[in-house]
Amino acid sequence: MVPSLKLCLVALLGAASVQAAPASDIVPTTASALERRASSCTFTGSKGAASAIKAKKSCSTITLNNVAVPAGTTLDLTGLNKGTKVIFEGETTFGYKEWSGPLVSVSGTDITVSGASGAVLNGDGARWWDGKGTNGGKTKPKFFYAHKMINSNIQNLKVKNSPVQVFSINGASELTLNKITIDNADVNSGKNIHFTGATCTGGHGISIGSVGGRSDNTVDTVNIENCSISNSQNGVRVKTVYGETGSVKGVTYKDITLSGITKYGVVIEQDYKNGSPTGTPTNGVPITGLTLNNVKGTVSSSATNVYVLCASGACSGWNWSGVSVKGGNTSSKCKNVPSSASC
Ligand SMILES: *[C@@H]1O[C@H](CO)[C@@H](O)[C@H](O)[C@H]1NC(C)=O
Ligand SMILES: *[C@@H]1O[C@H](CO)[C@@H](O)[C@H](O)[C@H]1NC(C)=O
Ligand SMILES: *[C@@H]1O[C@H](CO)[C@@H](O)[C@H](O)[C@H]1NC(C)=O
Repeated sequence: MVPSLKLCLVALLGAASVQAAPASDIVPTTASALERRASSCTFTGSKGAASAIKAKKSCSTITLNNVAVPAGTTLDLTGLNKGTKVIFEGETTFGYKEWSGPLVSVSGTDITVSGASGAVLNGDGARWWDGKGTNGGKTKPKFFYAHKMINSNIQNLKVKNSPVQVFSINGASELTLNKITIDNADVNSGKNIHFTGATCTGGHGISIGSVGGRSDNTVDTVNIENCSISNSQNGVRVKTVYGETGSVKGVTYKDITLSGITKYGVVIEQDYKNGSPTGTPTNGVPITGLTLNNVKGTVSSSATNVYVLCASGACSGWNWSGVSVKGGNTSSKCKNVPSSASC
């Protein structure tokens, strides 16, 4: 496993235009129409995708249980009947092919897409990753098209190791994405990643790490820009693992707005072990070239504005400007804070 980069929401692509659902998406709300589609359907295994695509219009609930989507196939759940619920259970996997995808596509009105407890949509993106993203190299499938989803919700979904962009949102109206975890932790070098225009709420913040103790422990050149983080535990966060080796370099957080943060507005720490801080930083995973530019906002009164816990000499070349986090207390526990930063 590698450096993980967890975000609540990324890559809101395409036009923000609001558009009505195509007429074919709208089902007459007559009793007979409702009865006809009032069935719960479960699809599973390697034939699950084909069966679901075929039967989608006759199901009021579509459960996708450990579905293995064949290579080059979109799990096409577009044009669902109004009010359809889609539930992912277990692990959804996708065959390998160089193509542009998407792997999953959903459209309709009053749709709820959710993950059951423990469910994961596993893109196994390492099969495509060549460091070039959509700018060359292998053609990589986009993950999830949420196009023309009207009054709909996508919630409690865990997406792992996407080949390239995760959500493409277009022509949506009143679409809420809530409690989405994107975890690209198992693969890749974590290089040249750009996240922009994310709105994160109710999560753990926009976090890099923990870095160290996996098979690949390099994070290099990550730009996180123009994001807002609200009602979350942390705002901006970088964690490295106690006693391990690796590196985090060239990470930039720019134009980030915080509000309602309950633990730390900005937290950079080199003391993680088994998922929690030890309080003792080590220098094996240096954090260099960390830029924070225009990171502003408020935290709750019981929270800490900024916390930096570095081992001696293990944080350098930082450039913080326009960092203003207010409303909480000032940490008295910061250590080895580089000169442009402050607690
Ligand atoms: C920032 O993101 C918002 C969406 O959250 C978008 O509307 C806006 O255009 C973006 N601004 C820039 C400068 O990219
Ligand atoms: C620090 O960042 C600011 C804003 O991004 C930039 O203008 C400045 O040139 C940077 N300074 C250094 C020493 O890199
Ligand atoms: C900030 O304030 C809270 C609540 O008073 C307290 O629990 C916490 O220890 C303080 N944090 C620091 C770093 O002083």
